[in-house]
Order: sequence, then structure tokens, then C-alpha cells
Amino acid sequence: MKLMRIDSSITGAASASRELTDSFTRAWLGTAPATRVISRDVGQIPVPHLDGQRLAALAADGRDPTPDQEQVIDDSERFISELEQADALVVGMPMYNFHAPSGFKAWFDHVARAGRTFNYTASGPVGLLKDRPVHILATRGGVHEGADSDLQTPWLEQTFALLGIRDLRFVYAEGLNLSDMDRKRAMNRARVLVESAAMTGAECLLEDERIRREAI
Ligand SMILES: Cc1cc2nc3c(=O)[nH]c(=O)nc-3n(C[C@H](O)[C@H](O)[C@H](O)COP(=O)(O)O)c2cc1C
Repeated sequence: MKLMRIDSSITGAASASRELTDSFTRAWLGTAPATRVISRDVGQIPVPHLDGQRLAALAADGRDPTPDQEQVIDDSERFISELEQADALVVGMPMYNFHAPSGFKAWFDHVARAGRTFNYTASGPVGLLKDRPVHILATRGGVHEGADSDLQTPWLEQTFALLGIRDLRFVYAEGLNLSDMDRKRAMNRARVLVESAAMTGAECLLEDERIRREAI
């Protein structure tokens, strides 16, 4: 079984979302120790932003690309392959200016490729990746869940759906910058929810694997 872990905070070891992706991964491995974890940290090791040259390179895929363009295509293929292999994802998702961190958006721009991870059709775009659980661990300084100021949640639902991935499961840790007491309370609550989500998620996939093996 493979779990893909994506971190996107720019604050390194001080990051609240990274603390939660750590808790999630530990709890997951406690339940399914044979899981291979694929890690991508787009906060610490940034993915280059998509620019005109990179976009042209991706468009040249299969049409005699130059060596530089091949490198861009290889990067995109590596990101997509990590995603394709994953049975489940856990994503550390801080809110920056009401949205996802720009590093996450840059990663997504390399992964969402017409003809590769989705197709345009007469009735709109159709995702080409299989659905799988995506655990979004959302950390915020203020409180936004369910409010108009939460531009992040609908965007994530829309962007993953573009690829065919609809099974998004959110845990929110909010009000982290209101006071020390608020932060402690929100992180304690989130840790419990995150560990429970990880154990349940891993158990479900282990059970799916067992049923698949028995059917062969
Ligand atoms: C650049 C930046 C922008 C932020 N914008 C928001 C915001 O729009 N709303 C909010 O509630 N908190 C905002 N915050 C606070 C973060 O969401 C909060 O510190 C959270 O813990 C970040 O997760 P992290 O510690 O994993 O990076 C912002 C923080 C930074 C660094």
C-alpha cells in the first residue's frame, strides 16, 4: 500500500500542518506498517512556477521536445506518477491569504495536464485518475470553516475533481493565531481527529486489499 504525503507550509519545523501530517503518518504506519510513504514537500523544496517556456514544454510532449523541454516533461511525469501510485493522500494545507500556499498551486499546475490527467470533452473536463481518499489537514490562524472567506476548501474540491479525485476528507485546525490557549485547544482536537482518520483510512484500505487478494 502507498500513502502520498504532501506538505506545503513554508515555516519548516515550526509548521502546524506539518505537525499534523506527522501525526497522521505515524498513526497510519501504526495500523499499516508495510505502507510505503511517498513524500513531496512543496513548501521546503519548491516546484518551479509554471511559465510560458514550461507550458510550451508540456505542450511539446510527444512532439520531438528539446532536451530542456524533456526535463520539464520528466518533472511533471514524476509528480503525476507519485500521485497515480498513491492509494491515499495526506496533505498539509496551511491557509495563506485565504487560499492554498502558492507552492501547492505550482505543484498542481504541473500535475493538471490536458490529455494526461484530464480530458476536455463536449460536456466539460473529465478526470483521468482513479478516485482515492485525500485527507486535507487544514491549518488556519483565524476561523473560516463554512464561511465565505474559506476560498481554499471549494478550490481544493474543484481542482482534485478535475483529475477525477472526489473523496476529500477535511480536518480543520483553526484559530491557531488567536491565543496560545486557542492554539493548544485546536491542535489537540485536530490531533485526535487526524489520528482517528489515519487509523480508519488505513484499516479500510487494508480490508480492500484483503478482499482483492481473496478474489484472485
Ligand atoms: C503568508 C501567510 C498568510 C496567511 N494568511 C492567512 C489567512 O488568510 N487566514 C488565516 O486564517 N490565517 C492566515 N495565516 C496564518 C496561517 O494560516 C497559520 O499560521 C497556520 O498555522 C499556517 O500553517 P503552518 O504553520 O503549517 O504554516 C497566514 C500565514 C502566513 C505565513
